[in-house]
Amino acid sequence: MSAEPVPDLPYARPYWDASDAQALLAALDSGMWTGGAAVAEFERVLAELVGVPTVAVSSGTAAIFALLAGYPRRGAERRLLISPAINFAAGPASAQLLGWDVALCDVRAEDLTLCPDRLAELLAVLSGEYQQVVVLAMHYAGHTCDMTTLSELCRAHGAELIEDACHAIGGRYSDGTPVGSWPSSRAAFFSFHPTKPLATGEGGAVSSTDSELLGAVASFRNHNMAASPARDDDPARDDDLAPRPYQISRPGLNLRLSDLHAAVGVAQAARLPESQRLRAELAASYHERLAGHDWLRTVPPERRDGSAHHLFPVVFDLAALRLSKRELLDAFHGKGVRVQIHYTPLHRLDAFRVPERRRSPLPVTDSVFPGLVSLPLWRGMTESDQDRVLDVVAGLPRLAGRRVFS
Ligand SMILES: Cc1ncc(COP(=O)(O)O)c(C=O)c1O
Repeated sequence: MSAEPVPDLPYARPYWDASDAQALLAALDSGMWTGGAAVAEFERVLAELVGVPTVAVSSGTAAIFALLAGYPRRGAERRLLISPAINFAAGPASAQLLGWDVALCDVRAEDLTLCPDRLAELLAVLSGEYQQVVVLAMHYAGHTCDMTTLSELCRAHGAELIEDACHAIGGRYSDGTPVGSWPSSRAAFFSFHPTKPLATGEGGAVSSTDSELLGAVASFRNHNMAASPARDDDPARDDDLAPRPYQISRPGLNLRLSDLHAAVGVAQAARLPESQRLRAELAASYHERLAGHDWLRTVPPERRDGSAHHLFPVVFDLAALRLSKRELLDAFHGKGVRVQIHYTPLHRLDAFRVPERRRSPLPVTDSVFPGLVSLPLWRGMTESDQDRVLDVVAGLPRLAGRRVFS
């Protein structure tokens, strides 16, 4: 009789329990699958978690698109978004689609967040060319950027700061305050994709103390429809029909979160502190058990308090291991361990090959990318799951030896 195949170990997996199912059933039963009470409740819960008001939308991508679409112009013709070169496409893609230019900045080796030194150089060159410059700080893997230094740099160069906090819901800055509430950041946005520590299926949110900006996001997600009593002199009024109940002054889109997703989000949020504690334990165990290998480094080198621990990235020294990236990935996938890469650097993607002038030198990005891999990390992962990952890691040098000497 053949043995049962061992199921693959995913790099991320959503966690749910009976409270998610109950919440979902209640939302189904309410008959209000969109525009109901669950979205308002989710926004209230998120605001409590983040410490500032939030607006929920249909994804993290929807969040940054609505945020940039509603972003106040400084009477500006040319607008620029500066993104770390190691980032997901959502922010830069939204900026480009909305007519902004994009610049790419290197990350710092320690935690792969925006490098303040490279950012200072970019700002020195570009802030004179653009009337409006917005810096996108991305909290890579859940580890927060150096917000104090980034804020000072932005202030010094007349730039504005926003945060891609899609990896960092429930996390804390180094001063202990919740991610999303940094005072000199104009807004932060979140994703509730199933891989994230708080998952709703699809879902996202924007948080900001700028009520006008948050109002613009809320309006944009609903086609920018505003209630508008019909006027007698309205040429569009047709007495044979009901008077128009709304006005649209600028086009928006439907980027609403459904109540079904929001209800799951409320249940997930209640469990987030516990989920984060369990993620932190798994991260601590990885740090401890990977410490003996001098041919890899964890990102960051030690476990950080306050991190949301969304991902567990590792940079392997492929030269020391005498492995190609393909061989490295095959070693994991051959054993059913589904590692992931976060991310292909933006300047290697055709859509974001920005002109030289809009790129800082990228030595860290270019040097870490070949060996960069995210190991599985999710609530519900067992010790034996983690053993399985670590066994593959421990076997990598032998793999290289076999390849070279057999
Ligand atoms: C850093 C980052 N930004 C933006 C997004 C976009 O979020 P979503 O997938 O919810 O649209 C993600 C999600 O994968 C992300 O990880």
